[in-house]
Amino acid sequence: MSEERPRRLPGDRQPAEEIARMLRVDHAGEYGATRIYQGQLDVLGRSRAAGEIRRMAETEKGHLARFEELLRERRVRPTLFYPLWSVAGYALGAATALLGERAAMACTVAVEEVIDEHYQRQAEQLGEEDPALRETILSFRADEIAHRDLAIAQGAGESSGYDLISAVVKTGSRLAIWLSTRL
Ligand SMILES: [Fe+2]
Ligand SMILES: [Fe+2]
Repeated sequence: MSEERPRRLPGDRQPAEEIARMLRVDHAGEYGATRIYQGQLDVLGRSRAAGEIRRMAETEKGHLARFEELLRERRVRPTLFYPLWSVAGYALGAATALLGERAAMACTVAVEEVIDEHYQRQAEQLGEEDPALRETILSFRADEIAHRDLAIAQGAGESSGYDLISAVVKTGSRLAIWLSTRL
């Protein structure tokens, strides 16, 4: 990771606008995460994995609450896709959970891998621009990596159709990130 600040060129977006876009997409992602876990819990609420899923869901609620605060403080509007992520996140969580506990865990691994990369990239982009936000992002990233490891420990890799679930969920997550950053 380079310590050098990227140079700004005329016509580059202002840092404030860039940071507003980061907050918007992160808020969207954490909201989506709470919806995925809700969908999983509604299907797997009595399963062996329910306790772990519930704990991960609690962490995501904390992440979401922090980004809600940040949007308010900095007067950034949420993504226009907010209502869609409610439905899409929930559907993704419920659908994978219906395939079984391991498929639900495979979904979690895929989402968290995308978010890990996403937060890592944001932290690099921020550089020294906003140290407090960078700390928040890196600390949430550590939580997401812990979720990924937990889902692997719960047997995600033994899920039938792992590669397919992983590919579909990753593509969907990346599309959601792309859309929520822009709109
Ligand atoms: Fe999160
Ligand atoms: Fe997570």
